Amino acid sequence: MPAPRIPRIKSPELLIAESGTDLEGHGLKRTMGLFQLVCFGVGAIVGTGIFVGLSDSVAQAGPAVVVSFILAAITCVFTAFAFAELGGAIPVSGSSYSFAYAGLGESTAFLVGWCLLLEYGVSVSAVAVGWSQYVNELLDSLTGRQLPAALSSGPTDGGVINVPAVIVIALASVLLMRGVRESARATAAMAVLKLAILVLFCAIGFSAFKDGNLTPFSPAGLGGIGAGTTAAFFSYIGFDAITTAGEEAKNPRRNIPIAIMICIGLVTLLYCAVALAAIGAIGGDKVGGQPAALSYVVNEVTGSTVGGGVIAFGAVVAIASVVLAVMYGQTRILMSMSRDGLIPRVFEKISPKTSTPVAGTLIVAVVFAVPAAFASLDAAVNLCTIGTLATMAAVNVAVIALRRREPGLARTFRVPLYPVVPLLGVGFCLYLMYETGWTTWVQFALFLVAGFLVYVLYGRRHSRLAARAEATAAVAERESQAV
Ligand code: ALA
Repeated sequence: MPAPRIPRIKSPELLIAESGTDLEGHGLKRTMGLFQLVCFGVGAIVGTGIFVGLSDSVAQAGPAVVVSFILAAITCVFTAFAFAELGGAIPVSGSSYSFAYAGLGESTAFLVGWCLLLEYGVSVSAVAVGWSQYVNELLDSLTGRQLPAALSSGPTDGGVINVPAVIVIALASVLLMRGVRESARATAAMAVLKLAILVLFCAIGFSAFKDGNLTPFSPAGLGGIGAGTTAAFFSYIGFDAITTAGEEAKNPRRNIPIAIMICIGLVTLLYCAVALAAIGAIGGDKVGGQPAALSYVVNEVTGSTVGGGVIAFGAVVAIASVVLAVMYGQTRILMSMSRDGLIPRVFEKISPKTSTPVAGTLIVAVVFAVPAAFASLDAAVNLCTIGTLATMAAVNVAVIALRRREPGLARTFRVPLYPVVPLLGVGFCLYLMYETGWTTWVQFALFLVAGFLVYVLYGRRHSRLAARAEATAAVAERESQAV
């Protein structure tokens, strides 16, 4: 008789129990309160997208980039509702991966985890490359000199190796290996500082605001707004990283949903204000395509390079904190996948000395330092965007699946207007994925095929869920034969 097919779906209770941390916590230390979670979220979100990417979005959409930011924010809000519901109900470290395991089953969860390598790992590389550009900008304003191109950009950008990008990844990994307490403190300080820098930028930009700079409002029409939305979306990536702190958060069921909502609201206001201030001060044509646009705006308004230097300093700090927060998220997701047996066990090992996954952090740092050293920023950003949107679509679907499968699950937050909101979330994600263009789609398809092969050849065979289910089934069969 063929063995019965065992469904590879995890119950939320099992996910929480397996994480090794009941809600009182016996695994990772619960050190992060609401303020730290918000700082962690801001740390993961505000960085390359606004400091480097704003000029790209403005080049596409003109002053209507404000509409692009709002559309990108709406996409995130729909998905943030889904994260809030799932993060409040299943407070473990795996983010979308764990939610997909509970809602959609093991193979989809593996592919979601695989896509998270794009959202987190590749984003670490991309953001580190952006950091390197601003280090050069800062050096320029301080000393009038930059690092040689050979040592500050990869081969596709005319260099040999991007040394600053590798250095920032190494620094972030050392902080993370030392323990979340130090890392959270450093992240909080950086988050507050970068918010202050952006508020300062707004004050300077609005002091020179001219209504006329906002016309024509939408020079490239709806197409420009759509392309601008996809570009702007990168600047929102990272808000879901808060759910990766599920095992280190105090009172996660309450604090994680609240922190997600606060972060989305805060950065949306900030991005719209920054875009309006920049365009209002010098016009969309000058902002669009301008490297280090924010420094440029401030230099133009103040007539000196001091202000631009301060902004460049802020960008260096802001982008470094994104590397820190995103790398943290990646290690926690890999830890969850490792616990499930889908990837090697080294990723789940927690050092008794620091209570952090030291080996996993080191591996992540080494692996993603390679693209940081040699890859182009644009390719990394596009892949990161499409991978993130795919995981977000899956999370919205997981909300629907879990509502059907686990109607009685304790939920501290419920997505409003269910099922309209999660369905709209899926629709918005698919639209923005479509806007990334066919080259990115081809790369993404190849990446998914590779992930599928890893799952079939390794993950499926080592799955602990399947092993446990098979053992239980064997015991049941022996008992029924004995009767
Ligand atoms: N949202 C992150 C950034 O803009 C990825 O740097």
